[in-house]
Amino acid sequence: MGKLAIIGGTGLTSLDGLNIIEQRKVETPFGLPSGDLLVGDFHGNAVIFLPRHGEHHTIPPHRINYRANIWALHQQGVEQIIAVAAVGSIRDDMVPGILAVPDQIIDYTYGREQSFYSDDFTADKHIDFSYPYDQDLREKILLSAERQGLAVVDSGTYGATQGPRLETVAEIKRMAQDGCAMVGMTGMPEASLARELNIAYATCAVMANWAAGLTDGVITMTDIERTVTEGVEQVKQILDELIRLQ
Ligand code: HPA
Repeated sequence: MGKLAIIGGTGLTSLDGLNIIEQRKVETPFGLPSGDLLVGDFHGNAVIFLPRHGEHHTIPPHRINYRANIWALHQQGVEQIIAVAAVGSIRDDMVPGILAVPDQIIDYTYGREQSFYSDDFTADKHIDFSYPYDQDLREKILLSAERQGLAVVDSGTYGATQGPRLETVAEIKRMAQDGCAMVGMTGMPEASLARELNIAYATCAVMANWAAGLTDGVITMTDIERTVTEGVEQVKQILDELIRLQ
């Protein structure tokens, strides 16, 4: 199995059980990643952990240097990335608190650097992105969840929004009509950049809240963080199992 990295999102800024061997500062031709790479050993397997929003969650989704993050992991020889992401639920069965492994993406973001090859583009740099997530890695996440007795929704379209604000009710209505099952702010261009470098990439999404207009009241970060904290415990169990399977 290829070297594995985990990109942690809201609620997953560290990984219990990761025996950190080195905190590695790296630079890339695209600038600095969100933080030091935590290079460690998880039950005898080498794993690299990177908190997407920085160690103290200070980098908003539209300011993340996605290119530097993915390039930095590539430089370390990473061949598989599991992205952990908090999302809003749009589809009825995606009840807050549960996990899902999406299988499709619609990208509503704008103004983000989309490619490593923007400045030296050639025709062969167009990637196939019909199936944005790596199916083998998706299956490993699902199998690990099953072995841990955890219910995880298999599939669903991840709608990537710009943030950092949450969506309007009309935006979520449109996304539901488009077929989105969940909404998050960081799924793109992370997934396509990984594909540009041939890194297998899959997302383990934690449903944090009903998206705008799907419940009464204001969506608060406090509620989101509380739900995510519970969900992330399950993510950790899945990662634990998955790393053993490697
Ligand atoms: N929208 C976008 N991103 C999110 C949400 C949401 O409702 N919840 C957690 N991340």
